[in-house]
Amino acid sequence: MTTVLIQGARPYGEGDPVDVLVEDGVITDIGSIDVPDEAEVIEAGGHVLLPGFVDLHTHLREPGREDTETIATGSAAAALGGYTAVFAMANTDPVADNAVIVDHVWRRGQEAGLVDVHPVGAVTVGLKGEKLAEIGTMAKSEARVKVFSDDGLCVADPLLMRRALEYSTALGVVIAQHAEEPRLTAGAQAHEGEQAARLGYTGWPASAEESIVARDCLLAQHANARLHVCHVSTSGTADILKWAKERGTKVSAEVTPHHLLLTDERLATYDPVNKVNPPLRTGSDAEKLRAALAEGVIDCVATDHAPHAVQDKDCEWNSARPGMLGLQTALSIVVETMVRTGLLDWRGVARVMSERPAEIGNLSDHGRPIEVGEPANLTLVDPDTEWTVRGVEFASIAANTPYEGMRLPGVVTATLLRGRITTREGKIAP
Ligand code: NCD
Ligand code: ZN
Ligand code: ZN
Repeated sequence: MTTVLIQGARPYGEGDPVDVLVEDGVITDIGSIDVPDEAEVIEAGGHVLLPGFVDLHTHLREPGREDTETIATGSAAAALGGYTAVFAMANTDPVADNAVIVDHVWRRGQEAGLVDVHPVGAVTVGLKGEKLAEIGTMAKSEARVKVFSDDGLCVADPLLMRRALEYSTALGVVIAQHAEEPRLTAGAQAHEGEQAARLGYTGWPASAEESIVARDCLLAQHANARLHVCHVSTSGTADILKWAKERGTKVSAEVTPHHLLLTDERLATYDPVNKVNPPLRTGSDAEKLRAALAEGVIDCVATDHAPHAVQDKDCEWNSARPGMLGLQTALSIVVETMVRTGLLDWRGVARVMSERPAEIGNLSDHGRPIEVGEPANLTLVDPDTEWTVRGVEFASIAANTPYEGMRLPGVVTATLLRGRITTREGKIAP
């Protein structure tokens, strides 16, 4: 039997510190507890105890681009960031559009053993947007795929999207849409606005996102299906989501840490580390996204962790790949933008980083309450200590972080997956 005693932690940052006993992967006691024989002890020092984080949107690049991230290195980055489960997007090479690939990803994740890696299945064969992939086979495979997405690309054809939503209902899975009307973003390099105009970049208009989100909310409503909107980036999308939720559409949405913190003012540096899809928007968009997350109009935070090789980032803006790292900085950005601003308390952080993403991704053993009898997927956070971001120190192979050199609040001091300590004091546990 493996036994861990977390001494003096504050669940959800509330009340006096308590001890939490974990035996064989389950929380068995909470209170004032004597150290059992042979227990591993974590001195929590009054820090905040939260359910382990769940990331609905991660790019792990295996198979295909193992020079930038593997399932093992991405799992390490996730665990160090406080995650116990991640959803790995399907835009690998080969694409995760069949049971062989998704089962391979699932098994590699279990072998790495640091977080549960749930493969996302592609909606269309090869992400080509032409014909539906074998969604049912993937849903019933060993990996039990629960989320389907062509992320990186939009399922732009409305008939195909309608069919995907109809199938998803029968299977109890969710379609996650990368909302980008491709006809409106041909050649786009940055948010269509003053900054892009000044720098001469082709614009990515807010309407390219909003028109797809509005369309898909209507399609989901008519199919009585669940829709998940990836990386919401505009104020207008928040308005559409609010409208759709009010009329009973089963839609959920995520926002990335970078869209909560960064804006297109960053473009003035010409540094492609800031290039991402959807692009960094304006300050008033970021402000609206924070409010929408606090209100529950946007359900959760997802990283869109997107590792890229130096040669794909350290080049001229127009040829650089879009995407930025996120797993090891997400919690800190949420503390900076949502907790320090008073928009969320720690219960709220648990909701947007763990509980809602677990519900949306259909995970029954993550995002659970910190109570006796519940699975011990847990994250311990030192809320006040600040640290300096250094991309090369991350567990990821790639180092494309937009936060390089920044001082950020909030340190993950330990993560437990089913009662096993996966990280401690910023290191993978032996
Ligand atoms: C992602 C990637 O690199 O795979 N890039 C990005 O800018 N977000 C794809 C995506 O999420 O659309
Ligand atoms: Zn995307
Ligand atoms: Zn993505």
